[in-house]
Amino acid sequence: MARIAIFGAGYVGLVTGACFADLGHEVVVRDVLPERIQRLRAGEVPIYEPGLGEVLERCRDRISFTLDVGEAVAGADFLYVAVGTPPTYAGDADLSAVWTVVDELPGDARMTIVMKSTVPVGTGEKVRAALDARGLEAVGYVSNPEFTAEGTAVRDFMNPDRIVIGAFDEEDGDAVEALHGGIDAPVVRADVNSAEMIKLTANAFLVTRISFINEIANVCELVDADVERVAEGIGLDHRLGPHFLRAGIGWGGSCFPKDSLALKQLAANSGYHFHLMNAVIEVNELQKRRVLQKLQRHLGGLRGKSIALLGLSFKPHTDDMREAPSLVLASRLLAEGAEVRGWDPVARPDLQGVTLSATLLEAVTGADAAVIVTEWPQLLEFPSEETRRAMRHPLIVDGRNLLDPDAVRALGFAYEGTGRRISATDVLPEAAEPELETSE
Ligand code: UGA
Repeated sequence: MARIAIFGAGYVGLVTGACFADLGHEVVVRDVLPERIQRLRAGEVPIYEPGLGEVLERCRDRISFTLDVGEAVAGADFLYVAVGTPPTYAGDADLSAVWTVVDELPGDARMTIVMKSTVPVGTGEKVRAALDARGLEAVGYVSNPEFTAEGTAVRDFMNPDRIVIGAFDEEDGDAVEALHGGIDAPVVRADVNSAEMIKLTANAFLVTRISFINEIANVCELVDADVERVAEGIGLDHRLGPHFLRAGIGWGGSCFPKDSLALKQLAANSGYHFHLMNAVIEVNELQKRRVLQKLQRHLGGLRGKSIALLGLSFKPHTDDMREAPSLVLASRLLAEGAEVRGWDPVARPDLQGVTLSATLLEAVTGADAAVIVTEWPQLLEFPSEETRRAMRHPLIVDGRNLLDPDAVRALGFAYEGTGRRISATDVLPEAAEPELETSE
């Protein structure tokens, strides 16, 4: 069994560390945030990730946490880099945290560096050159991108569709492959540049699918077709497959927006205008804003109207608010003069101007509309006699096509999904033609 140092105790680092410890390796996780390390040492899990707490608890004697570089790298066979690579103002990935790790390596280091953070193509070559320039030729370098999704990260790590390993030296690649003993998955071996490109391409293709089905949804709305049936009908074609065809109000999160922008900039910096990627990103920006048009169609102007945003995290089963569509929606609604309330079962964001509600009922009481922003399963139970009566206008805009339109309409709500057929009953009395006064 190997000794693995993990730099970065965020989602990726913690999941990677916990899962390697579960596979029997000795793991030290290092971060620069004292509070985070203290909490981890005290047995707390600083992020919401299903299953992670159980794995950490189970592996307590094989995983430790430190702020100290020397302690982390002492005797380490592998150094996994799992630090953040946020976008710079130019849209490129900011690699300063990655470079700090390389710079902090002691002069006698001999381990293999494994890059888990998502980096631009060419980063491995640059790191290799920097290591060589420091006389650290004995330090190996391997790219081992991650494909885990938040909310299912532990399961994804232990049951991946594939493991990608890009190495300069075959032996280093073999050693990283051996670390994954116990995981049954195909292994793709590649050169470092191609491994880096696989990661960016996978995310780029996933967002392309989502933006594509979102545009199909928008056309469905115009031609009175149902995108859910369309997605089912095309997804059964084995050449297309059913995944990432859920139409909605767009993609967010810590990876898709950052990585799509980084790929677009990588292409541009390399002299190529990536037309499709630009369109995919733009479609996503516009998609979030379409909710306002739907609200306005029913409610007229939004000034003074009270709108409940249900589900705030960028997707269910996480408290992560990074690039969550709710952020754009809330600020657009506030700019229109609406009063905005928010409800989420786990995320507690500090959103200026938005009142957070403890319960769903509280969030919708007196509201002019409820918008399903994130498809938390709790929201399946949301439409009821009680909530309909509590709302000022019983209007649901379902940004994730979570609910059954017929069942919701049968309860007396007006319903608007995304790319779903509109019913004549969805016109609210207030928004319909005003009734003529009859003189006695
Ligand atoms: C994503 C990828 O799915 C992972 O494979 C990858 O490892 C990760 O990014 C990363 O690069 O680190 P994640 O951001 O956790 O994972 O979440 P997803 O489940 O992929 O969802 C991302 C966004 O797309 C969410 O806002 C979700 O609501 C949206 N989405 C997803 C759709 O709108 N429609 C779909 O059909 C699927």
